[in-house]
Amino acid sequence: MVRDAQPADLPAVLWLEQSVPGAAHCDESQYTRIFDPAAARRVLLVADGKTHAVPQVIGGFILARVVHDEWEIENVAVAEEWRRKGVGQLLVVCLTTRARREDARAVRLEVRASNAPAIALYSKCGFQQDGIRKGYYSNPTEDALLFSLSLKNAS
Ligand SMILES: CC(C)(COP(=O)(O)OP(=O)(O)OC[C@H]1O[C@@H](n2cnc3c(N)ncnc32)[C@H](O)[C@@H]1OP(=O)(O)O)[C@@H](O)C(=O)NCCC(=O)NCCS
Repeated sequence: MVRDAQPADLPAVLWLEQSVPGAAHCDESQYTRIFDPAAARRVLLVADGKTHAVPQVIGGFILARVVHDEWEIENVAVAEEWRRKGVGQLLVVCLTTRARREDARAVRLEVRASNAPAIALYSKCGFQQDGIRKGYYSNPTEDALLFSLSLKNAS
């Protein structure tokens, strides 16, 4: 089940973020401010994974920043044991469905050029590459591929 994160989910989200090498590593305050109504709006969805061993009580999460009518996926991560079971796709689809419901024009993201699983996931969810930022990432230096999903004509 995918649901809105609650403050009690933050330790599990942070633990997963830190334990997944390919995930973006955001500032912890970026997560804690999600629940601050005065902060820039972010949406954090989690996929429950409570049947698995502690401390991992979520199977995955997705974090997006809302900037007017554009949503930007900042992070998505699925626990190793939950991979290739459709969790990542469910998270992306739930997020884009939410964005569409809120009249967003597009959902955007950037991804390391070598991150084949994530690129395959976004492509399967209908995202299209519309740009590249040369040498954008460091450690190691790598291009960022820009992807977007237009929601303009979506029903
Ligand atoms: C990318 C990630 C979120 C995918 O999560 P997932 O739950 O395993 O993905 P799903 O099972 O929903 O896969 C959906 C589709 O994505 C593609 N895909 C996912 N993982 C893949 C892989 N390892 N190799 C190739 N294609 C892959 C496939 O098209 C797949 O559909 P299929 O299983 O019917 O072939 C996961 O691998 C992960 O957490 N990676 C580390 C963090 C990361 O890189 N985040 C992205 C930062 S931009």
